[in-house]
Amino acid sequence: MLREGELVYLLDEKGRRHWLTLSPGMVKMSGLGVVSGSKLIGMEEGSRISLGGSEFVILRPGARELMESLDRGPQIIMPKDAATIVFKLDLKPGDAVVESGVGSGSLTTALLNAVGEDGLVVSIELREEFAAKAKRNVSRSPFVKAWDLRIGDALDAPVEAEVDAVVLDMPNPWDALPNVATFLRPGGRFCGYVPNSNQVEKLVWALRSSGYVEVEALENLQRQIEVHEGGVRPSFEPMGHTGYMVFARRALPRSPQ
Ligand SMILES: C[S@@+](CC[C@H](N)C(=O)[O-])C[C@H]1O[C@@H](n2cnc3c(N)ncnc32)[C@H](O)[C@@H]1O
Repeated sequence: MLREGELVYLLDEKGRRHWLTLSPGMVKMSGLGVVSGSKLIGMEEGSRISLGGSEFVILRPGARELMESLDRGPQIIMPKDAATIVFKLDLKPGDAVVESGVGSGSLTTALLNAVGEDGLVVSIELREEFAAKAKRNVSRSPFVKAWDLRIGDALDAPVEAEVDAVVLDMPNPWDALPNVATFLRPGGRFCGYVPNSNQVEKLVWALRSSGYVEVEALENLQRQIEVHEGGVRPSFEPMGHTGYMVFARRALPRSPQ
């Protein structure tokens, strides 16, 4: 049953999402008029309601919908790439992960969703204004209590915990590798997210020369399939470039013979 204080959205017939936090009394929603919050509290998720002659379905957001609706600052990591990152880093409930920078907090939302309330996401961000934006966006995650946001530089910010994984979405991730070695556990997993192929090359060589193993670079291409009365075909939407991902695992240095 939907409870007071929950963030939900009303899905209209055109697939648009209209957001509201459930509270008793009348709630003004732009484009929809006034909605009775008291009527929605106690309903089952997925219920259909009628407003001004149109039908809406009431739903709780998951990480994907939170990421798609956040207030954007710098370029965000999209759900398609975040899904690959979460799986390739083998993130599971209770894991600890460090990310830098935080930007708008899009990837943070996916990381929190993966590690859950018993996990830990430490986010290191250089710029206070991006940290403040990320704070507003990430506060909507149900797992925000597992989040530790810090202002700092990934090149030298100390992290006290030994963590299972690290994600760097910043222009020069190779420069942060000496610091990463102080908190990424042996066998732990690394991801660098970069938009340009020259950065991929530089990062792959830096990881290899730092002793990382299973170094792998990839791009994730996805296209929507549209189903119409007349047929089924890929969407005409262009497949825009998002970013390259470089994955690796940290190995200990060879011991002297
Ligand atoms: C592309 S944005 C990250 C977007 C984020 N992953 C998301 O999904 O919303 C890159 C961020 O890295 C931060 N940054 C750049 N260099 C940094 C450094 N050395 N240490 C910490 N943050 C850094 C920038 O301020 C910026 O917020």
